[in-house]
Amino acid sequence: TWTTVNVVDEQVALIREQVGTKRAVCGLSGGVDSAVAAALVNKAIGDRLTCVYVDHGLMRKGETEQVEKDFVAATGVQLKVVDAKERFLSALAGVSDPEQKRKIIGREFIRVFEQAQAEIVAEAGEHGESVDFLVQGTLYPDVVESGGGTGTANIKSHHNVGGLPEDLQFQLVEPLRKLFKDEVRMVGQELGLPAEIVQRQPFPGPGLGIRIVGEVTEERLDLLREADAIAREELTAAGLDNEIWQCPVVLLADVRSVGVQGDGRTYGHPIVLRPVSSEDAMTADWSRLPYDVLAKISTRITNEVRDVNRVVLDITSKPPGTIEWE
Ligand code: XMP
Repeated sequence: TWTTVNVVDEQVALIREQVGTKRAVCGLSGGVDSAVAAALVNKAIGDRLTCVYVDHGLMRKGETEQVEKDFVAATGVQLKVVDAKERFLSALAGVSDPEQKRKIIGREFIRVFEQAQAEIVAEAGEHGESVDFLVQGTLYPDVVESGGGTGTANIKSHHNVGGLPEDLQFQLVEPLRKLFKDEVRMVGQELGLPAEIVQRQPFPGPGLGIRIVGEVTEERLDLLREADAIAREELTAAGLDNEIWQCPVVLLADVRSVGVQGDGRTYGHPIVLRPVSSEDAMTADWSRLPYDVLAKISTRITNEVRDVNRVVLDITSKPPGTIEWE
């Protein structure tokens, strides 16, 4: 029978068997999945696990600081924070195609993990164990939607599945590969992770990089970060966090429309709100948010975010639309 205790015991045994006396690195994103994967592996191999948080410059406002503070406080794992903003932004320069963006981001993540691996080995000295394993919080839906399930078409390459480079040197440790999000949350709870981590809404590994329709630039990221922070703040203030599964905020960077703001004409970009309700992200429905909350978000974004003169609501379910726009 399926119980969280059984899952934890079984996975801890499998991880020990797989990793043996070697070391592992785990890419931590701040999300539920990687946090639970890290906690499981930490339970299995203790301090032979090093978590690596990659700040790729595609995070939301305040996210990096939150991971540094909350996750370490909750788990006590060893954490390496890598500032890789330059690396990701230059790799993404000039790229608009969604799948190409995903593949670039997936590849750059691995390159950063390889660098971290080399540093960990060097720090451990000659008696240190080698780092052969990479822990990922891959879930069952990630595998299916990346075309990994039998007979399924590739919908989009999740950064940690279809986005992996072909010359990957690591062996993967993916203890959540057969689980859905709600099950992962239960396992996280069983492992003693705090509610702030376990109940967090999903946020994709490629971050805001796949929420800018068009080329990803520093300026556009700053703009989207502001709009996203306003939407999140208002949804939280309205007590709607538990009602929605997640609410991607998307910048249509390649679209412009005419507005009238302040003293006159503007020619700015639209921001899309994509609040959805879902059980497992495989299907989703658009959330019927109260109009006054939507109005407040719209007014604030158009008043406070430079170059944005329109806010639109995505009222598409999944299918036919996916949750993220790219
Ligand atoms: P879609 O857009 O496929 O998203 O309907 C389903 C769920 O997966 C998240 N998502 C990702 N998560 N890496 C991740 O860690 C990815 O590459 C990725 N792409 C989508 C998305 O936010 C939603 O919760």
